[in-house]
Amino acid sequence: MVARVTLLYAHPYPQRSRAGRVLLDAVRGLPFVDVRALYSLYPDFAIDVEAEQRALLASDVIVWQSPFYWYGAPAMLHHWFEKVLARGWAYGSGGDKLRGKRVLWVTTTGAPDSAYRPGAMHGHPFDAFVPAFQQTAVFCGMRWEEPIVVHHAHQLGDEKLAAAAAEYRRRLEAL
Ligand SMILES: Cc1cc2nc3c(=O)[nH]c(=O)nc-3n(C[C@H](O)[C@H](O)[C@H](O)COP(=O)(O)O)c2cc1C
Repeated sequence: MVARVTLLYAHPYPQRSRAGRVLLDAVRGLPFVDVRALYSLYPDFAIDVEAEQRALLASDVIVWQSPFYWYGAPAMLHHWFEKVLARGWAYGSGGDKLRGKRVLWVTTTGAPDSAYRPGAMHGHPFDAFVPAFQQTAVFCGMRWEEPIVVHHAHQLGDEKLAAAAAEYRRRLEAL
């Protein structure tokens, strides 16, 4: 059976995006993928919690795709976490609605991988920034998939970006 995928796309400037757009374009046509572009759906940040929860209930895999901003995600994705992953629904007493679903985090960074080292620009390996996302999923009983991280998004050549996009598509098809 093909897994149903809900893809939360949180890019505040989709028209200016290069990397995120190429990645998204590689997967948005897949018949089992439902893309929810959060900044377009909720320009005023008034998330329709019931609609979001309905979409999650109908899916086996949840993708969080966004650029990497300030060592995390753009505000909309954090806001989505706060509103949609509610106590009594996603965690806590009776909060079992997401249990067993898989989460794939897909992000692009401005810096090269080599900047994510002690003593380098970002001071820590990139892996140091993953646990907050991973634990958000695990806290809600979801299964964490190996993230897709595309570094140096502005400088990456078209071929390498296309290869990353193809890999993203392959990962979703394999899930
Ligand atoms: C507000 C803001 C914060 C950012 N923070 C980071 C960061 O913490 N680490 C990093 O490597 N790049 C950072 N970047 C660069 C973005 O990750 C990069 O521009 C983006 O991934 C490129 O993808 P796009 O072409 O889809 O916009 C930041 C960019 C902005 C605008």
